[in-house]
Amino acid sequence: MITLKSPREIEKMRRSGAITAATLSMLIGTAKAGMTTQQLDALAEASIRERGGIPTFVGYHGYPATICVSLNDEVVHGIPGKRVLQEGDLLSIDIGTTLDGYVSDSAVTIAIGEISEEARSLMRVTQECLMLGIAQMKAGNHLSDIGHAVQRHAEAHGYGVVRDLVGHGVGTQMHEEPQVPNYGDPGKGLVLKTGLVLAIEPMINAGSHRVRTLKDGWTVVTADGKLSAHFEHTIAMTDEGPKILTLRDVYEHADAALYRPKGEAA
Ligand code: MF3
Ligand code: CO
Repeated sequence: MITLKSPREIEKMRRSGAITAATLSMLIGTAKAGMTTQQLDALAEASIRERGGIPTFVGYHGYPATICVSLNDEVVHGIPGKRVLQEGDLLSIDIGTTLDGYVSDSAVTIAIGEISEEARSLMRVTQECLMLGIAQMKAGNHLSDIGHAVQRHAEAHGYGVVRDLVGHGVGTQMHEEPQVPNYGDPGKGLVLKTGLVLAIEPMINAGSHRVRTLKDGWTVVTADGKLSAHFEHTIAMTDEGPKILTLRDVYEHADAALYRPKGEAA
């Protein structure tokens, strides 16, 4: 069942999203070579709780941490631990907050120090994929227009779009209907309406789209060992168009520039 959210509910989700965004901004500014991923996790948990939120991921199907940390060939769902961040790592951080019963979910991929040109390009294109997907959230468009826009852009760069994992509706539950694939033909499926809130989350691989899960039961890696990137926002359809509920003050320049309709001044 797809639940459309009222303006009051979207306002609650915006407050939840602000905690997710502020915490992710802090992590983007803090993650450095020499830190462990579990130090980042502890900072994330403290930041969410200080702001009155609850880390959504802890205990979700037994997940043991506040954030997911996925390095290099890891796609998503890497578990924080004693691993030390290294110069040149491509780090994806995924985080969710529950506030007043409403969930927000967001992810970024960042560079630890200097990264290869190849990694930088993958990171940039994946972020563009997210913003192009969001731009399809217009009344009258179909659900598959989102995935189609993501796939077109990623494949134009020769990248693989992960198919085994998808975006999702979000609200009082982290994962609600509908599923939001990052691929597909345009003009199919649900007609998008005001009140729909989605987590759009392209997972884009430098090589093949194929992935596998490690023996820890969580960490998803690329089948070919090449790099992967992941960006995610929680977005509400409103009468004024898509509203990103997890927009950050760090990295915002990149998001905002891509989000701005063509021709509109900065
Ligand atoms: N952003 C991820 C998702 O949408 C978060 C799930 S991680 C989990 O699926 F640990 F909570 F499962
Ligand atoms: Co998600």
